[in-house]
Amino acid sequence: MRLAVIGCGYVGLVTGSCLAEAGHDVVATDNDLARIATLNAGRLPIYETGLDGVMERARAAGRLRFTTDCAEAVGAAEAIFICVGTPPLESGEADLSAIDNVAQQIAAVTRSPKLVIEKSTVPAQTGEQLRRALNVYGRDAGGSFFRVASNPEFLREGTAVGDFFHPDRIVIGVEDQESERQLREIYRPILEGRFHCPVHQPACPAGRATAFLVTTIASAELIKHASNSFLGLKIAYANVLADLCERLGGDVEEVTRAMGMDPRIGPQFLNAGLGFGGFCLPKDIQAFNRLAERHGVDFTLLKETERINKCRIDQLMEKVRKALWVVKEKKIGVLGLAFKPNTDDVRFAPAIEVVRRLQAERAVVRATDPVAIEKARAVLPGIEFIEDPYRVARGADALLLLTEWAEYRQLDWKRICKEMARPLLIDARNMLSPAEMKALGFEYDCFGRPDLSVRTTLVTA
Ligand code: UGA
Repeated sequence: MRLAVIGCGYVGLVTGSCLAEAGHDVVATDNDLARIATLNAGRLPIYETGLDGVMERARAAGRLRFTTDCAEAVGAAEAIFICVGTPPLESGEADLSAIDNVAQQIAAVTRSPKLVIEKSTVPAQTGEQLRRALNVYGRDAGGSFFRVASNPEFLREGTAVGDFFHPDRIVIGVEDQESERQLREIYRPILEGRFHCPVHQPACPAGRATAFLVTTIASAELIKHASNSFLGLKIAYANVLADLCERLGGDVEEVTRAMGMDPRIGPQFLNAGLGFGGFCLPKDIQAFNRLAERHGVDFTLLKETERINKCRIDQLMEKVRKALWVVKEKKIGVLGLAFKPNTDDVRFAPAIEVVRRLQAERAVVRATDPVAIEKARAVLPGIEFIEDPYRVARGADALLLLTEWAEYRQLDWKRICKEMARPLLIDARNMLSPAEMKALGFEYDCFGRPDLSVRTTLVTA
């Protein structure tokens, strides 16, 4: 099918490239001229595992093109995916101005019937407004050309390509049969496994079949916000448990591991630590909460989730102050800047906020990250960035582990311990073993996990 993708950010690039890999003809557009120039030069403006290969194959096969001309992208398309950003406004509500702009642009250039699909995360009832905007601005062309659908994405940054090809569920919110038919056609290659999988070679493992859910547009919109908010809620719950464990001597990992074995709870998103960040969970929880408020529904639960999450950074700072006594002029090394591993995204990253707080307290910060240094540099003036984690640790009074990159587990911690001015390690992602780190000579702290070897001694004594 001929498809247009409007917006070449994380969602648009993954969606456009993967749908082209699945056999569709995709023209993607963005109003950021530099971004399109980068893409046309065959480079990716973001770091996303496996996406470069998918994009390269699709471009080589002539099924994926990039243009700055929205009319060119929309003109021949039978279906248009809107993948533009919906950042938070001061009030916490989603800013839908980019969606409104795109609707006007689509309406201005459309001369044949089209399905317009909301892929961007939007509050419930946006579909209705979108349809209205399309038809109002497209009235001069004569007739209502537009059908609207919602097709929320559940892609995680860092594993987005794998998630696209192997989704748990595909949700489509539609209001007519033709839209449902078209969306089934668009996703048929994914459902039938007809694509070259960049994640699994030589073949994809047999997994659970993907559920294809057809709902109303409002339900589809709600499903997205409800899912992200619930994930944030789970993390916040684990974080409060970690605090309780610290006071009562329990181990949050033992507690959440056992909880997660109950299939009604599930093991994922129960890792306690510095809390959630990124461009999705924090803003979606806020927007969902504001939406509920606006419609007279009390969703204090989400307000608390937000509050608990923000407090994680205060709690880490308290640990730093308690351990260092005076923070001013102390050399502090930071491992990890991205909001989570396997991405260079630093938007709403807890690590960035921690560095800002350290700067405000006049600490001397040196920071590293396997891929996010460039993006962090743009938002953290006055910080020394060093690629080599050993150099970040050398001579430091404290080392803070803020993003759980797998490679940090493999570091030569013995060497790091020796080279620090004071071997103080605060593992804000509960990544390393307290017993092992203490055995190496670190003053080690984390969230809600006592040193089990100490407990064993107590139990056996
Ligand atoms: C999230 C959702 O997981 C996706 O399903 C959704 O499609 C996406 O938002 C979106 O709306 O586009 P993402 O923002 O990539 O994906 O990040 P997550 O993997 O959900 O992680 C979010 C944050 O939670 C990270 O900062 C991570 O470190 C933190 N986290 C995650 C924890 O603190 N504990 C956990 O147990 C899990």
